Amino acid sequence: MCGIIGYVGKNQKSLDVLITGLESLEYRGYDSAGVAFISDDKLNIVKEQGRIRNLKEKLDFNMPTNIGIGHTRWATHGLPKTVNAHPHNVSKITLVHNGIIENYEEIKEKFKTYNFKSETDTEVAACLLNNLYEKNNNMLDAIKEFIKEAKGAYALGIINTDYKDILYAVKKNSPLIIGVGKSENFIASDVHAILKYTNKYIVLEDETFAKITKDEINIFDKNGNSISYVIKEFNEDEKVCSKGIYDHFMLKEINEQPEVIKKTIESCLINKKIDFSKYLENKNIKKIVIIACGSAVNAGYVGKFLIEEYANIPVDVEIASEFRYKKVFINKECLVIPISQSGETADTLEALKIAKSYGCYTLGIINVVESSIARICDDVIYIKAGPEIAVATTKAYLAQVLVLTLLAIYLGKKNNLINEKLEQELEQELNLLPNKIESLLENKDYEKIAKELYSKQDIFFIGRNVDYALCMEGSLKLKEISYIHSEAYAAGELKHGTISLIDSNTPTIAIITKKSIASKTISNVKEIKSREGKIILVTSSDTYNINDSDYDYEIVIPKTKEIFRPILAIVPLQLISYYVAKLKGCDIDKPKNLAKSVTVE
Ligand code: F6R
Repeated sequence: MCGIIGYVGKNQKSLDVLITGLESLEYRGYDSAGVAFISDDKLNIVKEQGRIRNLKEKLDFNMPTNIGIGHTRWATHGLPKTVNAHPHNVSKITLVHNGIIENYEEIKEKFKTYNFKSETDTEVAACLLNNLYEKNNNMLDAIKEFIKEAKGAYALGIINTDYKDILYAVKKNSPLIIGVGKSENFIASDVHAILKYTNKYIVLEDETFAKITKDEINIFDKNGNSISYVIKEFNEDEKVCSKGIYDHFMLKEINEQPEVIKKTIESCLINKKIDFSKYLENKNIKKIVIIACGSAVNAGYVGKFLIEEYANIPVDVEIASEFRYKKVFINKECLVIPISQSGETADTLEALKIAKSYGCYTLGIINVVESSIARICDDVIYIKAGPEIAVATTKAYLAQVLVLTLLAIYLGKKNNLINEKLEQELEQELNLLPNKIESLLENKDYEKIAKELYSKQDIFFIGRNVDYALCMEGSLKLKEISYIHSEAYAAGELKHGTISLIDSNTPTIAIITKKSIASKTISNVKEIKSREGKIILVTSSDTYNINDSDYDYEIVIPKTKEIFRPILAIVPLQLISYYVAKLKGCDIDKPKNLAKSVTVE
């Protein structure tokens, strides 16, 4: 992970540019932050443990400078201490790094006599680059050789004190863009970091590197040949990145869901019909494999249950980090669906490359346009979530679930399992979902339930089939932002051991939206109740009848077709997690140890 930024240009106040950029990249990591810049011909490096606000206190913003690099860190090698913070300097070379140099121990061995100050792989990278520069006396040759020697993932922003008006950048398997300004240029991990100054950018490709001055950008391939590039324009409004009236980005993003759902639905309709024919019409799909991480995997499980039930196609959901290192059973008849909000998750990206090497057709469900995963997939269905800033995903997860639901309907229709009448009913109901989510957002019971939960040590989530898939996401949301231990269980599985943990202090959230198996989950609810466990139900009013004495709290989602219930039922789980974390005083948008974009494996 980590966020990197760099500036070279006319602006004597480049420290402002670096810090503004880092603030927008803080979602990528927030263990420590640092900047390096040249002022009055001298190199300055300032770094500090913790948030960017700590770094700001150490900086003198009046220092004139027109070249610098900055970094916000998510620790991989070495504790989140100031000494391990970037930038790292070795002699003439100072650099910031996002990624992992996998062979750093081997490289370090070569420089045994050098007195490394930090525990990081990045300082080793700086040492290697400095050595190559001293040997070649030429930066371009040094970077070329660096690409040959360094293994793993890296996006590096580099300054060399021999060339005080040149910024260098090199990339492999970690994202990096070059921002194109007027008499000023930038580098950044993502385009939002530079939008205040320019919306023109170049995507740096893997194993290429750049030499950037205020007026010129030159890009080279790994052999040092100059290559052409395309300047793109980013047209999204920068203002979407503010919290507005909300206390937290997470709450803002939860409240944006009706709009996100509306926009995503619109993007999947042609002549008012759910239509993915441009991707799937001529494909004979025997099996679907979903590859993803974290919440995106949880969305994948919802998709699995729906596609299997409504389209009768087997679906394997593969955790991307596992898929990479196991025997895989895929072939040209498989549709592989990578799901990713950021489009940069390293494990999903690598799993995608494996799927492509087997000749599978790959159709991504992705939020960030032009992201690394989006560019590698054969085709992409973009969810319309807009920028998601809170580290814990909400609106992107929901939009992923929506697209998978629409795919289930489309494939069901294609396989003659959904007739025209049902299709019309589903399409009509689809348009009512944004309002139904709106009404769920207005429910005031979440805070009451959160008061019941926030002092607990452990919480269980139970459900069957698609409700179990929702439990996985509900549980992940709760634990990542409130630090309460929670587990999702297939309701029928609890009695095979875990029920021994249930007592009056260990509540359970039970999700019951599937009519055919509601009575089964109710039996499991009763088993918990009779062991004094408190029960919070999330359910749909027409699903079943239950006695008041069998539960403690009940959230009833608005009536809708069963296939759409996951889209509604997740909203209460998001809000309960949010209010629990708020009552506990947690840093909701930036939970400890996490980062938004996981570009390391
Ligand atoms: C949890 C969360 C993560 C991400 C996961 C994959 O709230 O956000 O579990 O879902 O890191 O990220 P993307 O979707 O960007 O590939």
